[in-house]
Amino acid sequence: MAKKLFIETLGCAMNSRDTEHMIAELSEKEDYEVCENFAEADLILINTCSVRERPVHKLFSELGVFNKKKKADAKIGVCGCTASHLGDEIIKRAPYVSFVLGARNVSKITEVLHKDKAVEIDINYDESEFAFKDFRSSPYKAYINISIGCDKQCTFCIVPKTRGDEISIPDNLIIAEAQKAVDAGAREVFLLGQNVNNYGRRFSGDNEKVNFTELLRRLSRIEGLERIRFTSPHPFHMDDEFIEEFASNPKICKSMHMPLQSGSSQVLKEMKRGYTKEWFLNRVEKLRAECPEVSISTDIIVAFPGESDEDFLDTLDVVKRVGFDQIFSFKYSPRPQTEAEHFTNTVDPDVASARLTELQELSTQIIDAKNAKLLGKVFRVYFEDLNQDYYVSGRSDNNIVIKVKGSDELLGTFRDVKITAIGRTILTGEIVA
Ligand code: 5AD
Ligand code: SF4
Repeated sequence: MAKKLFIETLGCAMNSRDTEHMIAELSEKEDYEVCENFAEADLILINTCSVRERPVHKLFSELGVFNKKKKADAKIGVCGCTASHLGDEIIKRAPYVSFVLGARNVSKITEVLHKDKAVEIDINYDESEFAFKDFRSSPYKAYINISIGCDKQCTFCIVPKTRGDEISIPDNLIIAEAQKAVDAGAREVFLLGQNVNNYGRRFSGDNEKVNFTELLRRLSRIEGLERIRFTSPHPFHMDDEFIEEFASNPKICKSMHMPLQSGSSQVLKEMKRGYTKEWFLNRVEKLRAECPEVSISTDIIVAFPGESDEDFLDTLDVVKRVGFDQIFSFKYSPRPQTEAEHFTNTVDPDVASARLTELQELSTQIIDAKNAKLLGKVFRVYFEDLNQDYYVSGRSDNNIVIKVKGSDELLGTFRDVKITAIGRTILTGEIVA
């Protein structure tokens, strides 16, 4: 009988893809199948995130619960970014943990499984040619890594320390992977990397060097592939050629994530983001000029050390001018091994909370106003999820989540949907064609 695997995935899309890889390895080589209840599992994995402090604290309380209620001989493994960053400290603090597997070492899951107290956290390990496995959490959409790690030096960010230097995966592997997914029925690929539009800077092996724009062009030639999405691009690398390809290539979905982080040029400098407020606004202007229907989302950190009231007003100013379709906003959280960890000009926690609230209220107002205009509009939706209440949901090309009444027959199909009701995170519609 197959053994049972329970896996919890925190953090970003890169982690979700790593989870898919680990499931593939464990099911193929060790006969595991995924279960929903950790108390029944023979193996419990937590694929962790370390980008902010709170999830790291939560990890240890959660491990305690797993340990108390798990099956007597079940193993617990800690994987992902916090595994890379804390290493054997995890086993010191939670001695019942069987192994620790870093974000850059997930291909070794079946090795560490059989080594008690193994700690594999080499951030220079080259996983770029690691055979992509067929397991996918959705048959309709394929997540594909195009690069691993990050070469940037943003002063707030722990990721270069957990995922290591950036390596680009050779384009022939990416294209073969996309082709395989399309042959298996997927109509959409979702390209993943910490900094996708920096693609091509460093390759493993001696493949031809192509940049991200050229990779997009090559992928879009795959017959049967209808949609290409990607995350995350960096505003610094958004050159005209990239924006023009994005706008003119009909297979590229018209939603762009542009992580602003701050609207103040001074704060951006302290963050070492490599662009100014003006550059960011200029890129948005170019993008909207080339592609008026684009939806733009962003990440913003408030209360970075030294952020003054004026700096924060600059952030609000950019938010108002751009009118983002979605904002992921965070209070700055000092992270170990980062440059900003040593910055002493910290912002008062009450001020930080007030700024976060003000930003979120502004964002909600903007989004509500935008959504209100969508009533009666028609979008082409690719249906991917069956919800329990007889609704099927999917996304429009520009990333709006839309649900309609229906059954699994709609899954994997494209339909034109007219919006009939507005919600904050999901809109309701009816199929018109
Ligand atoms: N504190 C708060 N937010 C952070 N992020 C990254 N590092 C930190 C930090 N130290 C946010 C950034 C990034 C997103 C994934 O998480 O906005 O884009
Ligand atoms: Fe979290 Fe960043 Fe690691 Fe993704 S890469 S899991 S966001 S720390």
